[in-house]
Amino acid sequence: MEFKGLDIVSIRDLTREQIEFVLDLSEKMIPYARGEKFTKMLEGRILANLFFEPSTRTRMSFETAMARLGGRTLEMSHPSMMSIAKGETLADTIRMVESYSDAIVLRHPHEGAARLAAKFSRSPVINAGDGAGQHPTQTLLDLFTIRRDKQHIEGIKVALVGDLKYGRTAHSLAEALTLFGAEVTFVAPASLQMPRETVKQVEKLGGKPKLTSKLEEVIKDIDVLYVTRIQRERFPDPSEYLKVAGSYRIDNTLLREAKQNLTVMHPLPRVDEIAPEVDYTQHAKYFEQAFNGVPVRMALLSLVLGGEL
Ligand code: NCD
Repeated sequence: MEFKGLDIVSIRDLTREQIEFVLDLSEKMIPYARGEKFTKMLEGRILANLFFEPSTRTRMSFETAMARLGGRTLEMSHPSMMSIAKGETLADTIRMVESYSDAIVLRHPHEGAARLAAKFSRSPVINAGDGAGQHPTQTLLDLFTIRRDKQHIEGIKVALVGDLKYGRTAHSLAEALTLFGAEVTFVAPASLQMPRETVKQVEKLGGKPKLTSKLEEVIKDIDVLYVTRIQRERFPDPSEYLKVAGSYRIDNTLLREAKQNLTVMHPLPRVDEIAPEVDYTQHAKYFEQAFNGVPVRMALLSLVLGGEL
């Protein structure tokens, strides 16, 4: 299976077989991700981390992944200290960074930015979130978390709840879950429901998504609850944000209605959509999910950069 040099801009760039291959390799990366085994597979290789939006997990887990594989990361300074602030285009920045590194990870507030970067870069570009677009590596680690937890993805019932309009993690995940034969339900206030384009893609993949605003209607029936943050920074009008802020709050009272083995996930950061009391229940998998970003990104980087275990 050929991955070397591949751009990962959208989850649609990968077939089901390729995703399964990444997940299988991620499994093998776990002892290396934990620092129990060591490898220098990517020694001498450089990954450029370009983050034009806040990030904790994605940026740091890419950095850790690269370090655990024996490679290095090139971190940009704050965007205000980059030549972009002097008026340089993203395309020119990418042309430069490409010549300083072997692969580029890009997070950018504009949808389509990663696709543009891929056009200007000969080395692989990995989309770490483009505005309200896609977040494919988050999806890989989400699938990995579900597969480890439930042993399979086919046939499981997943509710995605929160900001499905602006939440890029939900867009990529809804498509991938359908590709794997899971049943998806989209739970959001009407103004934040899943974009038509994603619903259409899910249907094209054979899915029959349910759309509702009422979590109570589905909580009893689902195997995975994927909670997302209302994406405050993407609302053109702050008063619109205030109307939907705090729409959903997952707490132990709500979870009493759920299956014993319901898995609660969240790409993080959370604001107030999951009560801290949930952290101590058997349902909470979001911190494990965040750790899974390391082995999954190790697997992906090793494939894209052509390293071998
Ligand atoms: C998400 C993102 O940036 O899209 N965070 C992440 O990468 N884990 C989710 C969010 O910001 O709400």
